[in-house]
Amino acid sequence: MSMLKVNGTEHDVRSSPDTPLLYVLRNELGIMTPKFGCGMAQCGACSVLLDGAEMRACITPVAAAEGKEVTTVEGLPARWAKQRNLSAQTAQDTLHPVQEAWVEEQVPQCGICQFGMMIKVTELLEANPKPTDADIKAALTTSGPSPHLCRCASYAAILDGVHHAARLMAKGAK
Ligand code: FES
Ligand code: FES
Repeated sequence: MSMLKVNGTEHDVRSSPDTPLLYVLRNELGIMTPKFGCGMAQCGACSVLLDGAEMRACITPVAAAEGKEVTTVEGLPARWAKQRNLSAQTAQDTLHPVQEAWVEEQVPQCGICQFGMMIKVTELLEANPKPTDADIKAALTTSGPSPHLCRCASYAAILDGVHHAARLMAKGAK
């Protein structure tokens, strides 16, 4: 049994400490946006934020997340609301700017890679609010254990989505 804090809520976890965090999130807690793609830290579909840093939940034992804050795409609106000091009521109706940009730019095709993409882009924009194309490409290719892969090849739309999200964040988007 261990305690796991996900999207602001603490959970008692029954899985053994060496269980991959991804399995705990999906199978025990029912948090479904992190996806199983490769299971080997080679695609990015399972990415979550751990204390604000992107990591691959498919190879991270749940014990490594104890005492830290796990954020999945489900938790991005509340993360943004907290950063913007929005009211609880407003927070309920608020998308994170990255999600809003993904909708407005219609970034996803099949969608399976996109939750990991949005997690990585959130990490990027929190550190670099106005990234260049080169910054975005570096974040999504060389900064982690592997590139974030999209087999639908939505890469051009992702670039547009990141720039759109940066603009929304800059003006304090709802
Ligand atoms: S499923 Fe974790 S990196 Fe592919
Ligand atoms: S949108 Fe299909 S894998 Fe990326």
